[in-house]
Amino acid sequence: MIKIAPSVLSADFARLGAELEDIQSAGADYVHFDVMDGIFVPNISFGIPVLKSLRRVSDQFLDVHLMIDRPLRYVKAFCDAGADLVNVHVEADTTENNLLALQTIRELGKKTAVTLKPRTPAEAAEPFLPFVDMILVMTVEPGFGGQSFMYDQLDKIRRLRSRIDEFFPGCDLEVDGGITPETAPLAIEAGANVLVAGSAVFGMKDRCAAIAALRGE
Ligand code: DX5
Ligand code: ZN
Repeated sequence: MIKIAPSVLSADFARLGAELEDIQSAGADYVHFDVMDGIFVPNISFGIPVLKSLRRVSDQFLDVHLMIDRPLRYVKAFCDAGADLVNVHVEADTTENNLLALQTIRELGKKTAVTLKPRTPAEAAEPFLPFVDMILVMTVEPGFGGQSFMYDQLDKIRRLRSRIDEFFPGCDLEVDGGITPETAPLAIEAGANVLVAGSAVFGMKDRCAAIAALRGE
């Protein structure tokens, strides 16, 4: 079963609550919430107060992607604000601190994930695999929506899929960046089972058709 996680980075921020309702009725599985701090990535998006407000109006699964430096400092705040899953970048801190961040998230009863930037090899996920519910492979450089899919990441997706199938069944494999009806089948074929899509959902008028197209329907 392929899950679709529209990224609110491409939504209309003046009417976020309505945008979430719209993708829920269109069949979205998760809501992908991209947090950027202007340090880990060269852009600033939104954070804890916005997540808290959305939690109040939505019962959807909130997949929080932290593109922030040293996320250990903030994971508790994001869990308390209503995240269902908190995702930290392996490049954002030491392995030791990132493992502590994952432990904190689990102790608060939420799901865990780690993300790999395009230039980070698949092996960088190894120390985290026993402690995560999901691995995210970035298929663009993090920071902005609307970029083109990096085909050279497909091999990394394949390698992580075989590691997961062999040793960590149940772990999800998510892809993020440049996912369209054209690139989605390649990511799925390589082994991804959760697809993040910003422009390809929120950039379309008919979100129901957009989500169905990503599922290949
Ligand atoms: C990029 C973000 C993505 C972004 C995807 O740093 O992590 O989630 O919103 O946007 P699209 O789908 O437009 O590439
Ligand atoms: Zn993201």
